[in-house]
Amino acid sequence: MEPPYTAGLESIDREFDRIECSAEGTIPSWLSGTLLRNGPGRFEVGGQPVTHWFDGLAMVRRFRIQDGTVTVSNRFLRSKEYEHATHEGELRCDQFGTTAPSSVLDRLREMMNPTLTDNASISVDRIGQQPIAITETPNAVAFDAETLATEGGLDHNDGLSITGSLAHPHYDFNREMVVNMGVEFGRTSEYVLFERPTDSRIRREIGRVAADRPAYFHSFGLTERYAILLESPLRLDRTALLRHRPFIENYSWDDSLPSRFLIFDRESGAVVSRPAVDPCFVFHHVNAFELPAENRVVVDVIAFENSEVIQSLSLDRLRSGEEPVPGGELRRYRLPIEGGAVEERSLFSGPIEFPMINYRQVSTRPYRYLYACGHTNPPAIGLLNCLVKYDLETGTRSVWHEPGVYPTEPVFVDRAPAPVPGVDTGTDEDDGVVLSVLLDTRSDRSALLVLDAASFSELARARLPAGFPFGFHGQWYPDDGRPHRTMP
Ligand SMILES: [Fe+2]
Repeated sequence: MEPPYTAGLESIDREFDRIECSAEGTIPSWLSGTLLRNGPGRFEVGGQPVTHWFDGLAMVRRFRIQDGTVTVSNRFLRSKEYEHATHEGELRCDQFGTTAPSSVLDRLREMMNPTLTDNASISVDRIGQQPIAITETPNAVAFDAETLATEGGLDHNDGLSITGSLAHPHYDFNREMVVNMGVEFGRTSEYVLFERPTDSRIRREIGRVAADRPAYFHSFGLTERYAILLESPLRLDRTALLRHRPFIENYSWDDSLPSRFLIFDRESGAVVSRPAVDPCFVFHHVNAFELPAENRVVVDVIAFENSEVIQSLSLDRLRSGEEPVPGGELRRYRLPIEGGAVEERSLFSGPIEFPMINYRQVSTRPYRYLYACGHTNPPAIGLLNCLVKYDLETGTRSVWHEPGVYPTEPVFVDRAPAPVPGVDTGTDEDDGVVLSVLLDTRSDRSALLVLDAASFSELARARLPAGFPFGFHGQWYPDDGRPHRTMP
């Protein structure tokens, strides 16, 4: 039987421009800013469906909250990929899980000079005040902060040589620096650590390390001194990129390998420790911090047993609802910098995904609260159906759930962010709200939910003018104009 949430996996035809949404409840008067989110909006090209959830054409969503009201906009990113798909009726470049049509000659040309998609559908970032849509290639696309009109591809023009770049860059609040990792494919592939000032498009390489068969990775961990990459057994095949197949099918799970953390010194760029752990796969890091007295780092991730979760997110499988989507667990690693054993434990068994913290206050620091999507009936079949708040101090959790309603990534917004991160202003870590875009499958309409983060109870809900496809990630930008990020 078709699962109830399929409307969240269907294309939307309409674009709305700053439509005021009717709200139930009371939106706090202090909540003033813009939530920009990204995700797929169209799942067909030339009448043919794309294969994977991650391959839909990018659509930016904008939720403007001010004086207790919400206006919403959505607009497709007019990327080269979008224009080609619209006018030629086919994909221009291979996507994560869907191939573009190509001839043998095309493939040979690709080997010499690969073109990478600019279908930037995963998240958003900013250069100064300029929003950009980002994905796992370096091809970010700029768009207007108010109208969402596409302004064109971002040319870094800085000489940094990378083929892949994470859509989960970290933000170093103290240095006002965006820190990210990527990969360069080649005869010898390399992992690359780099950074850029928040108001500049010029990236600076910090370090790179050879990877014989690089792992697929989607995010990384950051502490004040270290950047931490989890290298899973999902590795690039040696014959990869020579064959006509989707990007992710160039990788395969190697049962003979453990998972391994590569801990980069952010100052020198060198890898200072490579602790191995049991095989696992991770999309999202939650937080990381140092234990100087023990010369260790703590790394919290959402861990899966293997990479089967990637295949489980193909559109056919999600829409059929017949096979379960594997659930991730919240797992904590205590990793040695110099010798010593790895300590590993499950903090919560899940299923859990789309983790979120009070990023400005506790990123790179010990922390107490974690927000995420979860499931009321584990092991979950299909998509996650509730929001969860975990208290790591007491080991308890709170759940927000409504039958027939599917939430997306919860975004934490701090009521009174400290002027300087890490300075104790006496405000509680959970003093704020959590925003999540819901799909109400009883009406196939979406809504923006506002939860009180402390009590995890509903404050308000603004109804959107249509059902929006499920999105992936986004950022809240408060009106105070300070450089800001709500998540990596
Ligand atoms: Fe992600």
